[in-house]
Amino acid sequence: MASIDDDKKAAAVAAVAEVRMGMLVGLGTGSTAAFAIRALGDRVAQGLAIRAVVTSDASDKLAREVGIEVLDFAAVARVDLTIDGADEIDSRCFAIKGAGGAMLREKIVAASSARMVVIADGSKQVERIGAAKLPVEVLPFAIAYVMRVLTDMDAAPTVRDNYLTDQGNLVIDCHFVSLEDPRATAATLSAIPGILGHGLFLDEVDGAYIATNGVVTRLERAGASA
Ligand code: 5RP
Repeated sequence: MASIDDDKKAAAVAAVAEVRMGMLVGLGTGSTAAFAIRALGDRVAQGLAIRAVVTSDASDKLAREVGIEVLDFAAVARVDLTIDGADEIDSRCFAIKGAGGAMLREKIVAASSARMVVIADGSKQVERIGAAKLPVEVLPFAIAYVMRVLTDMDAAPTVRDNYLTDQGNLVIDCHFVSLEDPRATAATLSAIPGILGHGLFLDEVDGAYIATNGVVTRLERAGASA
């Protein structure tokens, strides 16, 4: 029987097979994304010429270690393919991301990408997203105000302990009793001054590779270009 790590790696290797010569690749963050970065490094070592942008300092370090050329995303307007993990993904290709705290950069890089695929072991696949904690990145200046608003929304907010994002901001983990209407929740969160980003990915994910017991299943958003 395959371990969770075997499944993360299998999903990552399947997604990395989408990378073609000359692409600019977005590299996600987290333990599953790390498998993808290593698998991409292996392909680079075999002669694949690609460049990458990264979504966190940790992924930047790993990508450089495995020989991937990393560009400064501030000078990049368009990415060909982004590969990233998720905390939950459902059949609509709606995802919750951000347990690793990188959701703000991850969403920007995903938005800039012609295609974005999630990689995950089977434990992340759910019928409907909503059970995982939903992280929001908050400007430290606004923390008390945002906590008050999220408490009023019954979001059961908790400030992540001893944690700052790569941008030096705080993370509040929310747990909504129900995420019946994720688009309404996303719009509400996006409209709160002081919230810089959140982990609801509703339009960014084009497809997913999900591995369970060594078997990789591919999911595609209706109408996505594979
Ligand atoms: C980081 C993320 C990660 O991709 C997500 O938390 C999954 O991480 P892992 O692959 O370690 O389970 O969104 O912000």
